[in-house]
Amino acid sequence: MGGLIVIVGVFWGVCILSAALLRWNEVRYKKKGLPPGTMGWPIFGETTEFLKLGPAFMKNQRSRFGSFFKSHILGCPTIVSMDPELNRYILVNEAKGLVPGYPQSMLDILGKCNIAAVHGSAHKYMRGALLALISPTMIKDQLLPKIDDFMRSHLSNWDDKIIDIQEKTKEMAFLSSLRQIASKEANSISQSFMPEFFKLVLGTLSLPINLPNTNYHRGFQARKNITSLLRKLVEERRDSKETQKDMLGFLLGEENKYKLSDDEMIDLIITILYSGYETISTTSMMAIKYLHDHPKVLQELRKEHITIIERKRPEDPIEYDDYKSMPFTRAVIYETSRLATIVNGVLRKTTRDMEINGYVIPKGWRIYVYTREVNYDPNLYPDPLTFNPWRWLEKGMENQHHFLIFGGGTRQCPGKELGLAEISTFLHYFVTKYKWEEVGGDKLMKFPRVEAPNGLRIRVSTR
Ligand code: HEM
Repeated sequence: MGGLIVIVGVFWGVCILSAALLRWNEVRYKKKGLPPGTMGWPIFGETTEFLKLGPAFMKNQRSRFGSFFKSHILGCPTIVSMDPELNRYILVNEAKGLVPGYPQSMLDILGKCNIAAVHGSAHKYMRGALLALISPTMIKDQLLPKIDDFMRSHLSNWDDKIIDIQEKTKEMAFLSSLRQIASKEANSISQSFMPEFFKLVLGTLSLPINLPNTNYHRGFQARKNITSLLRKLVEERRDSKETQKDMLGFLLGEENKYKLSDDEMIDLIITILYSGYETISTTSMMAIKYLHDHPKVLQELRKEHITIIERKRPEDPIEYDDYKSMPFTRAVIYETSRLATIVNGVLRKTTRDMEINGYVIPKGWRIYVYTREVNYDPNLYPDPLTFNPWRWLEKGMENQHHFLIFGGGTRQCPGKELGLAEISTFLHYFVTKYKWEEVGGDKLMKFPRVEAPNGLRIRVSTR
């Protein structure tokens, strides 16, 4: 009996303490002028619910508090904005003090010169340097031939194999970028580079606790190894009198008007590898999934690519004009990005107290510009849960201001065309060469940004 009383007592004690802590945390943030919402537990906030429930957490909070609410996630007090007009306003007003607000672990590991870490004129310069590197002319003359060559060999021996498509598209995104950056050295450095890069990626998605055996620590070490590998590469290129026609060659070349220090160059290369990695791999994998589930779409896509093949010899590469004559492929990629919501939203932070939507957002708070819901708005996309690439063929759909698959405003994705060219080339060789069936992998993995089936495996055979 005594034991039972103790258990009941402890139980009530924990309940009362928890309620008091939750209440204290709410009162702490009950400043005048803040939007409605809940702040969860001290320090941890509502991070657990956010990570566990993902979009369902957002939907639930929206039904309680509307499209503009406060929360405490990933270690920071945060405003979540789901309102399309407000989202637009936030994205175009960096100059008023709404700068990127990515987690500290990401900034530490990607480097202090990476584009997300710099603002104002430094951002303009780094962005200019990147845009020069991946301009339409560069894609046409230098990058697309490398992408084509890479895709042919990457997809050359999938016949009669069970392929973990998630793993293969991740490798593809990384190795293809590496070829574009350092075409001559890519093969020799990829084996030592790839595992370090995967550790770096994991590190950016972790809590910034620098203790042995944490993902952050491993990611930080990986950054050091990658930095020294790239530094050596830059030095070797400088010493050699040969000029290579790749990104590194362009960065070091005389004709490039953007002169970067070695540190800036290295951070830019890491940014390119990092930004295209998860986006390209997940979009490619999800396209394979949707094409498998929608035979009519696959048929139409194949038709487009067979038309291209028919006007070429087997050894001819995909050229820029071929890429530009793939409207249905582009529509398939947009529809995949929309339905799978490859990017749930983007993060900003306030550099001073700011009035937004009639509320005062304190300096240093994060703003999660949550764009996912727009993708499922039936007024914008009729029958929104249906995979229907044809909807994108209506003229000008991608220029609508609600189209935020590649972000918006001053930070809109500079790698959009490069990413599309890579995914299109991958799809070209995949659908013309192979047919496939799914053999497993329907578990969902959830990240703040990406949600996709885990370990999707397919059995591939030649058509
Ligand atoms: C399907 C592929 C891609 C998708 C869906 C995508 C999506 C996005 C989004 C939503 C943003 C906005 C981030 C923000 O506002 O904070 C962004 C920015 C960015 N993307 Fe992409 N991206 C893709 C491919 C690429 C590729 C291949 C590169 C490689 C060059 C790249 C480089 C960048 C960079 C450097 C930024 C930051 C720009 C800045 O801060 O000025 N992206 N991307």
